[in-house]
Amino acid sequence: MQQPLFDRSTTEPSGGDSLEFAELQKLKQEIHFHNHRYHVLDAPIISDVEYDRLMNRLKEIESAHPDWITSDSPSQRVGSTPAERFNKVRHPKPILSLANTFGLDDLLAWLERLTKLDERVSTADFMLEPKIDGLTVVLTYRDGVFVQGATRGDGEVGEDITSNLRTVRALPLRLPVNADGPKPPATLVVRGEAFMFIGDFEALNQRLSEAGERTYLNPRNTAAGSLRQLDSALTATRPLTLYTYAIVSADGPVPQTQRELIAYLKALGLPVAPESEYCAGRDELLRAVEAWREKRDLLTYEADGIVIKLNDLRLAEELGFVGKDPRGAIAFKFPAREVTTRLQDIGVNVGRTGVLTPYAMLEPVEIGGVIVKQATLHNFDYIAEKDIRIGDRVLVKRAGEVIPYVIGPVTEIRNGDEKNFEPPQVCPTCGQPVEHLEGEVAWYCVNLACPAQLVRNLEHFVSRGTMDIVGLGIKIVEQLVEAGLVKSPADLYRLTKDDLLKLEGFAEKKADNLLQSIDASRSRPLARLLSALGIHGVGEVMAADLAKAFHSLDRLAAASTDDLTNVEGIGPNTAQSIVDWFARPSNAEFLQRLRESGVWPVVEEAAGTQSSAKELAGLTFVITGTLPTFSRDEVKALIQDHGGKATDSVSKKTDYLVAGEAAGSKLDKARSLGVPVLDEAGLLALIQSRGEA
Ligand code: IVH
Repeated sequence: MQQPLFDRSTTEPSGGDSLEFAELQKLKQEIHFHNHRYHVLDAPIISDVEYDRLMNRLKEIESAHPDWITSDSPSQRVGSTPAERFNKVRHPKPILSLANTFGLDDLLAWLERLTKLDERVSTADFMLEPKIDGLTVVLTYRDGVFVQGATRGDGEVGEDITSNLRTVRALPLRLPVNADGPKPPATLVVRGEAFMFIGDFEALNQRLSEAGERTYLNPRNTAAGSLRQLDSALTATRPLTLYTYAIVSADGPVPQTQRELIAYLKALGLPVAPESEYCAGRDELLRAVEAWREKRDLLTYEADGIVIKLNDLRLAEELGFVGKDPRGAIAFKFPAREVTTRLQDIGVNVGRTGVLTPYAMLEPVEIGGVIVKQATLHNFDYIAEKDIRIGDRVLVKRAGEVIPYVIGPVTEIRNGDEKNFEPPQVCPTCGQPVEHLEGEVAWYCVNLACPAQLVRNLEHFVSRGTMDIVGLGIKIVEQLVEAGLVKSPADLYRLTKDDLLKLEGFAEKKADNLLQSIDASRSRPLARLLSALGIHGVGEVMAADLAKAFHSLDRLAAASTDDLTNVEGIGPNTAQSIVDWFARPSNAEFLQRLRESGVWPVVEEAAGTQSSAKELAGLTFVITGTLPTFSRDEVKALIQDHGGKATDSVSKKTDYLVAGEAAGSKLDKARSLGVPVLDEAGLLALIQSRGEA
């Protein structure tokens, strides 16, 4: 299903609604403005919280008046129904490509040829733009509203990927983005390149790897693949962005030089590459090209070259084409950063989350001025799929700041001595068996005490949402591990004052305080301890469900996968992961030590009375604005810990609104419904007074 192409309701309603309608128009304008500041200019002027507040208010008004929703509303970036296939789109003019040059000689020859064709080229000026390595997109705006986005396809006919492009935040849904920008022609078709910043690409891979999912090879493939997803909800989770650089067609006057054209696109609110340069003449151009040898490495996205364009677009057009390539522009390709070298061995890293990642140990080789000795191999499936063997000659790529990676083996020159690689059965750091979850590509070391993960596991164990050991931050965790005092979270409960006094920065008082908070954590409820254990797939919510269903660690440890899948929300994979966790001898030993230290919570059989005895049982809260000391999550946890419920929207059923600084529409709504409003101190007082009662 496509979004409606045109605004359906732009007529202003009368009566009491007109105020809200005006607010809606203002909100849309404001959100477009902030999107542009954030995603295009990289210079936000409001916090995420404030942005969310604007967006929530917009959605609130729109859900009360669905007929006011227009296709250019910032709330409409994600379509609801996945497409079955992409429709074909005929471009208004052919989407051309460029001829390539590979060195200064080639470039000079190009200038020479052009000058012969037209003397004006000898005194011409130029624009020089990065040649972004992404996916070409063709965007159509009608009366300033984004109505269609397509891939290049064969240059004549592309695929309609409008729904996917809508999810790209840098793409304006309405032009001009700023009220004082130029008014675009009735139909404007622009060309650009969709891509991913290298940092965003790496963060995405990190996230996928932590979730045990397949990681991506490089930003270009990821961007292209994400835009060709049939489900735009999936595209929306990908950090895509976009730069525009050409006008394909327009039914009104547009600039006649490339320099003005870029400025014009920018003034409309379309994103353009900030690195584009104007060169007043040939010498300046050659110097600028030379400077790009170094500049290339500073780019935050991948570019495989630069594009050199005659600034005078009319002159460029008059010069015509060679085949499908226009004469007036040329791609100057950077030297490739792919080389072959020998794969000497395959090593395995254990990441912070226990994920095992294979890497290539290479015969050192220079790629683009850097000596490369290691490259990533992504995951074990990748090695098998590409049939990469130890001893192979492999093709290695280094692009921009991306970690070098092995593209694949050169199979033609194998001599039979190459060896298949067997993924390790045990963790290379601690020697414990590794695990693989059904449906995931990653292998994990799940040993809590694995030195590769110990610090992170401890951090999780002591954090607020789990055992909540106040005062035990990452620095002290590191100190404890470094001093050999703690080899597993269970060791925390055996620390003595003498142990702590040996650490730098510890005096009597600090040691006493820490021991006291460790002691206090012994009485945390079972659900907290369960989520502290870091069993793969068991988060806060599932831990609470397990505690409710099994009441003690003994009973949970004795549960079969069938017992576990009987609990709502627990699937066979997680059930297996829980059973396996308890079956591992090192974990049994760890639990035994917790038990000996008195860390062994059980849930009373009559659990019902326990929760209704809590101070805030039966009460529903909504939180809004910025509180003086607690973060949003912290207040939520506080309310839940005391038996209350925290929800998102204010209704008649809300018992209290907890409001801080800069509270917005929720506060108005609470007041209009007569819902009592508390500040942070008021909430604490409420908990205390109900506790005493
Ligand atoms: S100009 C006639 N400018 O590089 C206009 N292309 O073959 C031709 N590309 O896939 C395109 N950045 O999509 C132009 N600043 C830029 C570009 C650029 C990337 C892509 C283009 C095409 C290839 C050139």
